[in-house]
Amino acid sequence: MDKNIVVAIDGYSSCGKSTLAKALAKKLHFIYIDSGAMYRAVTLYFLRNNIDLTNHDQIAQALKNIHLNFHSRDYQTHILLNDEEVSDEIRLMPVTENVSSIAALHEVRVEMVKQQQRMGRSKNIIMDGRDIGTVVFPNAQVKLFMTADPKIRAERRYKEVVIKEPHISLEEVFESLAHRDYQDTTRAESPLTRAEDAIILDNTDLTPDEQLAFAISKVEPFLK
Ligand code: DC
Repeated sequence: MDKNIVVAIDGYSSCGKSTLAKALAKKLHFIYIDSGAMYRAVTLYFLRNNIDLTNHDQIAQALKNIHLNFHSRDYQTHILLNDEEVSDEIRLMPVTENVSSIAALHEVRVEMVKQQQRMGRSKNIIMDGRDIGTVVFPNAQVKLFMTADPKIRAERRYKEVVIKEPHISLEEVFESLAHRDYQDTTRAESPLTRAEDAIILDNTDLTPDEQLAFAISKVEPFLK
């Protein structure tokens, strides 16, 4: 029987939130939910359908037409947008460049938060994002706020992105991350900020195993 333990992981872009969340979910047999993938899938729909971000009727209609589903294989995120697997496409630059603007829209946030809270009901989950410990699950038992040196983050992100988009430079990735951080922390609605009771995890000098051990030590007391 699940105890309904919620682990909320928030932090800047490319801090390794999903790497940690997946490893933790695997270790603890929790369900992993990547909330950023939801905002990315909505962004893909908006781009494909040329939704005007100043037109509230269009936004509301678009949100009604969007059906998101996750299916999990080996703790990797697979997200379906109206039954189409879009997991790869949502990681490409067109979505990445636009997601912060779309994630700042009030209507989009209300709908995503509603769906995320539903997913967390009566299950043990790990959710990563920007507002999980502050807005989505303010009562989460464990809250981690992840950070790392911006240069290290850009290098990590570059290694992932260049495989699929070889024309991209490290500088472009650095600028894109800085721009997203700025948008995510300064937006009017639920900006990225550390919940007062969140534990800071700076992984600049930590290996994936070290950060996993740290996170496990914070969750373990709640498993007993
Ligand atoms: O974690 P990510 O890079 O996949 O997230 C994509 C964008 O979605 C990010 O720029 C901010 C937004 N986001 C958000 O506003 N709230 C969340 N809970 C998760 C992501």
